[in-house]
Amino acid sequence: MKKIIIGNWKLNLTHLEGIQLLQKINYSLQKDTEEYVEVVLAPSFTSLRSIQTVISTDKLKIKLSSQDVSRYSEGAYTGEVSANQLLKLSVDYCIVGHSERREYFHETDEIVNEKVLKLLDSEIVPIFCFGESLQNREQGNYLDYIKNQINTGLKNVRKDKVNKLVLAYEPIWAIGTGNVATIDNIIEVLEYVKVLVSEKSFFSEENILLIYGGSVSPDNASEILNTKIVNGALVGGASLDSDKFVKIINSISI
Ligand code: PGA
Repeated sequence: MKKIIIGNWKLNLTHLEGIQLLQKINYSLQKDTEEYVEVVLAPSFTSLRSIQTVISTDKLKIKLSSQDVSRYSEGAYTGEVSANQLLKLSVDYCIVGHSERREYFHETDEIVNEKVLKLLDSEIVPIFCFGESLQNREQGNYLDYIKNQINTGLKNVRKDKVNKLVLAYEPIWAIGTGNVATIDNIIEVLEYVKVLVSEKSFFSEENILLIYGGSVSPDNASEILNTKIVNGALVGGASLDSDKFVKIINSISI
């Protein structure tokens, strides 16, 4: 299966800075990269239009992701952006349920679920984030916690709507901290999640990508990305540096 590397720019870069970073990344990518890896960039809402224009005008082999979506379709919801509005900007993917949204913006599993369903209705691929806190891990109940996030977050997902679904394991204690999860931590959780979702009606081997996120860097990328069960990475901090981001992509060897 083709691996996927997603750069989550978070609340960084103006649209002009974003275009510069996109061009640097594109310049450094090897010509055959798209044969074995899907490269995805997730800028702020304000940059989506300009980044998409450069991607389509210059025919770049880079896909576009939003960092969030509204759970509403339209109406009196000031400040929200709908799945349909993203679709019309040719957005391919959308991050949903990121721990920063859950923590700072009080997104519950139920809200995340509504967003997932809206994205699937608009044929935008959800990058569904889940993962435990340090406290859950220390208490030892992290697999139950993750099970609940997945069961609730992916409730009522219909098989005929799922062309592709990215499930991103992002332990909160590893995000932005430099404390990358060990490869055994990652394998344990992704294997558990694979069994869990394989029981769902929408599951098929080809349409579910299991990925990891949390302090991925050029130093640890090779071990993580060349592990069979890991289909890719969600990269935060290191995706803001074109050299580091491209090194991460180039570390894929299988
Ligand atoms: P990080 O962020 O790579 O900076 O840890 C990952 C993420 O939040 O998606």
